Amino acid sequence: MKIVVIGGTGLIGSKLVNKLREHGHEAVPASPNSGVNIVTSEGLAEVLKGASVVVDVSNSPSFEETAAMNFFNTATRNLIKYGQSAGVQHYVALSVVGTDRLAERRLSDAEKTIRGYFRAKLAQEKLIKESSIPFSIVHATQFFEFAKSIADASSDGTTIRVAPVLIQPMAAEDVAAAVGRIAVGSPANGIVEIGGPEQFRLDEFIRLGLSAHNDPRKVVGDPAAGYFGVEVDERTLVPGKDARLGEIRFETWLAQSARSTVGAADTSR
Ligand SMILES: NC(=O)c1ccc[n+]([C@@H]2O[C@H](COP(=O)([O-])OP(=O)(O)OC[C@H]3O[C@@H](n4cnc5c(N)ncnc54)[C@H](OP(=O)(O)O)[C@@H]3O)[C@@H](O)[C@H]2O)c1
Repeated sequence: MKIVVIGGTGLIGSKLVNKLREHGHEAVPASPNSGVNIVTSEGLAEVLKGASVVVDVSNSPSFEETAAMNFFNTATRNLIKYGQSAGVQHYVALSVVGTDRLAERRLSDAEKTIRGYFRAKLAQEKLIKESSIPFSIVHATQFFEFAKSIADASSDGTTIRVAPVLIQPMAAEDVAAAVGRIAVGSPANGIVEIGGPEQFRLDEFIRLGLSAHNDPRKVVGDPAAGYFGVEVDERTLVPGKDARLGEIRFETWLAQSARSTVGAADTSR
């Protein structure tokens, strides 16, 4: 089966391409690096020729609302148009658990908020749902790899403040495995939720992530702090009971990533 992976050079995309190839599929990574641009549509007709499935795991270069909205609207319209012409039978897109909830309320004093990014993801999802191509929209929880970005966005340099709400993060490896299984299966024509094997409090998740990398910043659970300038409640970030769960535990992943950091430092000497 020919499966085109848009964003196939990214964190999830590169792992997904490897997994699909291991299972004998013709997985083709497509991104500006390989001459395919879903915003300008450069290279799209060629790469989609003969494809049964297109998986979109690309991301907007900016999280700012106007830029993200332009990216996801234009890119998704192009993917639908060229996908229809090529006879694509399954359109898979990766989005985020709670996208609809995160698009709602920003903190009243937030100078910067990620709410606009989620509005753009919602616009992407709406276009896919309204298209004539059978689809699966995969809602994943936050990646383990994303902990540092959450920390940096919530830091004043020495202290990190995040709302102590529930989070059920997962390894990018598990995200890629789940997206791969969905891509080769029948279209859900709806949303499929995926998440990690355990729940944490957001402050606890960040604290564990930082301490494994000897990051000295203090993490404070502050109910008023929100999540990237968005007002969140206890369950905004967690999936429903039918979510498909990954296997990799955060503790195992942290130990592995600490080992590979040490290994990289050793080889650079
Ligand atoms: N971070 C999280 O915790 C989280 C949680 C749930 C879902 N998600 C979703 O997961 C998706 C993928 O995230 P990621 O972290 O794997 O992304 P990433 O590592 O930033 O990779 C983004 C990919 O998009 C490609 N790209 C950018 N502009 C493009 C364009 N104009 N045309 C074609 N490809 C383009 C990039 O190609 P180049 O390498 O050539 O620039 C790269 O391959 C996102 O949609 C995000 O919403 C993220």
